[in-house]
Amino acid sequence: MSEHPSNGPRPLIPGQVKSWLGVVAFVLVAVAVLGYAFVAIRPTTNADLDRRTAQKALRADTEAKAQALLTAPAKNADGTYRLPVADAMAVIAANPKVLADMRKPAAAPAPTTSSAAFVKADDEQMKRGQAVYSRTCIACHQPTGKGLAPVFPPIAGVPIVNGDPALTIKFILHGLMGPITVEGVTYNSMMPPVAGVSDQDIADVLTYVRQSFGNQSNPVTADQVKAVRAANATRTAPWNTAELGLK
Ligand code: HEC
Repeated sequence: MSEHPSNGPRPLIPGQVKSWLGVVAFVLVAVAVLGYAFVAIRPTTNADLDRRTAQKALRADTEAKAQALLTAPAKNADGTYRLPVADAMAVIAANPKVLADMRKPAAAPAPTTSSAAFVKADDEQMKRGQAVYSRTCIACHQPTGKGLAPVFPPIAGVPIVNGDPALTIKFILHGLMGPITVEGVTYNSMMPPVAGVSDQDIADVLTYVRQSFGNQSNPVTADQVKAVRAANATRTAPWNTAELGLK
């Protein structure tokens, strides 16, 4: 039994207060919407621009320095070239485009064949060769075999790699220095002798290289490596491109 049956229960919030609350809520929502719109469309501030410009300048500077080191590699005290692997890495780090290019799957170059009767290497030798490549060549000649101009020449689709293996065996055993032009780019750096590789390792890695990256040349055997090693047993100096008749 209610005392005021005609008025119903007392409202929780009196009418006047309710309409004020409505106004306050409307204002809050309006401020939020306008504030968001302001942040979203406001022109970039000077601080942002400055930061971006500074980043760009730093990148250009690092790249220029790295590039300078690469094109004129520094020499060690004994006159040998200081190997610019770290510098090459700086170029990569400084230049996102170089990195992106490297990550792109290598467009298979036109197959280069050294012999009409092509012999495909067996899977085991290819697997071993890939492991040796990853250990001993990849930092310079890159996962794509495309090298990194103008410091590390490509070994994909180039005649030297697909020619007489004796030449590449020599590079691996004793190193190579002197100017050499590969695909129109002149390299004048030094490939160090590759340490700690057996005759079989060299045969495997060359077989892998000769049948990867679009190359299509016959496998190399440990006996071929052994013969080149024996013929140059007294040699200690790296090969010079001029002495090998390479240009
Ligand atoms: C430290 C870096 C480095 C490593 C490691 C290295 N190379 Fe090289 N390679 C070079 C450089 C630099 C040249 C060019 C030398 C010159 O300027 O005379 C070269 C040249 C060559 C060439 C002749 C040029 C061409 O492009 O055909 C071949 C072939 C080659 N390397 C194969 C290999 C193989 C195979 C391995 C691994 C077993 C290897 N290299 C490891 C840096 C390297």
